[in-house]
Amino acid sequence: MEKITEEALKEISEVKNQIDLERARLRYLGRKSGVLAKITSEIPKLPPSQRLGIGTKVRKARTQMETAFESATKAAKKVSAEVIDVTAPGIKIEAGSLHPLTKVVEEIKEIFHYLGFTWVDGPEVDTDLYNFQKLNMPPAHPARDVQQTYYLDKELLLRTHTSSMQVRYMETHKPPIRVLFPGRCYRRDMPDSTHLPSFYQVEGLLVDAQATMTDLLGSLEFFAKQFFGESTKIRVYGHHFPYTEPSIEVEVYYPRSGWLEILGAGMVHPAVLRNGHINPNRYRGWAFGMGPDRLAMLKYGIGDIRILYNNDLRFLNQF
Ligand code: PHE
Repeated sequence: MEKITEEALKEISEVKNQIDLERARLRYLGRKSGVLAKITSEIPKLPPSQRLGIGTKVRKARTQMETAFESATKAAKKVSAEVIDVTAPGIKIEAGSLHPLTKVVEEIKEIFHYLGFTWVDGPEVDTDLYNFQKLNMPPAHPARDVQQTYYLDKELLLRTHTSSMQVRYMETHKPPIRVLFPGRCYRRDMPDSTHLPSFYQVEGLLVDAQATMTDLLGSLEFFAKQFFGESTKIRVYGHHFPYTEPSIEVEVYYPRSGWLEILGAGMVHPAVLRNGHINPNRYRGWAFGMGPDRLAMLKYGIGDIRILYNNDLRFLNQF
């Protein structure tokens, strides 16, 4: 029995693949024609004096062989799992993409960069001072009503527009100024297909000795053609903002939707320049504020602004 066991263990240690292992297992441990089964079936034929102890020896041999087969099978399985199946289908790696709003803001920056504009971030939590007062809107001014404001306390608020950056920037920078202020703004609006309490704006500010309304219109038309395509038309209406004089509103013609307002703009009011420590007798400025949400909706044919914010992958994967 010891010799048989030794032989079996040696064989097991030499066989490397699962099929040969199974063959060897059947040869030794097979229920009918296995070596051990045969020995067991011979036991009754022995004279009683020789039977003693053989059963125990066979059982011991079986246990040893079984253990050896088990670990050899495990090892062989591991080897076959590591084999690379070159015919297996590939795994698709999902690449992320920029959010359509991010894309639009980046594109606005890029187009105005071509016209010499840099950009800076500003705080979303700002003061009444910069959001309103320094822009010619004292506490009881009626223009505050159209920008329903989230106040955090008497002084602090969530900025209602990126115009809050105009005076802050002028206070710390000398002309010539050409800069964009992109970022989030907040107003107490009921959510619907064109309004959300939080939205994006990109403000543009230019201050220079020679700044004119014509430059403003030319720059905005250049922007519209770059952004929407060469054949894009814009039209301009007189409007009112307390911080620009004169003030305008700009609409673009987009075949799918007709004329649509995309921005407010105007010549920076002399009082606002003064608040920014800039002498209005030497310098003039123009400014505009556009809505990237609106621009994204127009450009990509999105009917509901809320789709831009609810993170539905079926929508986002298209960009
Ligand atoms: N702040 C204005 C708005 O939110 C847009 C604007 C910016 C108008 C700059 C004039 C100058 O509607």
